[in-house]
Amino acid sequence: MTMAETASRATLYATVGETLRREIAGGRFADTEILPGERELSTLLNVSRTTLRRAITDLVAEGVLYHRHGAGTFIRRALPRVDQPLSRLTGFTQDMRLRGFVAGSRELERGVFLPTPEEAMMLGVGPNESVIRLSRLRLASDVPMAIEHAVVPLRYIPDPEAIGSSLYDALEARHFRPVRALQRLRAIVLSEADADLLGVEPKSPALYIQRIAYLADGRCVEFTRSYYRSDTYDFVSELTLSPAMRKSKT
Ligand code: GLP
Repeated sequence: MTMAETASRATLYATVGETLRREIAGGRFADTEILPGERELSTLLNVSRTTLRRAITDLVAEGVLYHRHGAGTFIRRALPRVDQPLSRLTGFTQDMRLRGFVAGSRELERGVFLPTPEEAMMLGVGPNESVIRLSRLRLASDVPMAIEHAVVPLRYIPDPEAIGSSLYDALEARHFRPVRALQRLRAIVLSEADADLLGVEPKSPALYIQRIAYLADGRCVEFTRSYYRSDTYDFVSELTLSPAMRKSKT
């Protein structure tokens, strides 16, 4: 191939890539996450499959598209970005609503079980006291944001089916909305299955958050383990001087 031919091919790939990018931005594929197949796209853009493939490779390198092993090529949508204060005891549904997103969930598990030793210890229940386990993929306007595994003693919600889209609404309805919680956070690497659920690359980083929530009388009502995508959440905390330090300043 001559240099001129190489240059004109590169221009062609760039032009096709640009057209595809414009179509995506213009909302042509708004109803789908997955990019249509090669045959359909090459007809739509009136280019050969080889040219299309090269243009797609370039868009993947730019991050406009991404491949998912065995599933195809996907369009990377603009992600909801959330600033989450660390000091307020709110639930996911409430948080998302406040930010103008539609909170949604995909249920992964729901049922009544005997607690594991860890769950029993965290919740302060006996080994024979049943708990509800509710695992959900949490979505903000259809974008996966977090995986949450919540455990609640059965005595607070005797029927797991009574939990609708919000656990905190269900607890509130029975006057068991937690009023205080302890939370610990740490950075982790997602398992392959969790990365897949969250729609991120394998081995992506995430924030692992454990919440233990209490009623006003000190009883523990919730133990939840969550995996938050690190590319959609900023956890924000307010720092103040301790009262003693403040006094020494005046
Ligand atoms: C947050 C907390 C969880 C809590 C959940 C309740 O995401 N990390 O500990 O269980 O909110 O949310 P909802 O009321 O939407 O079910």
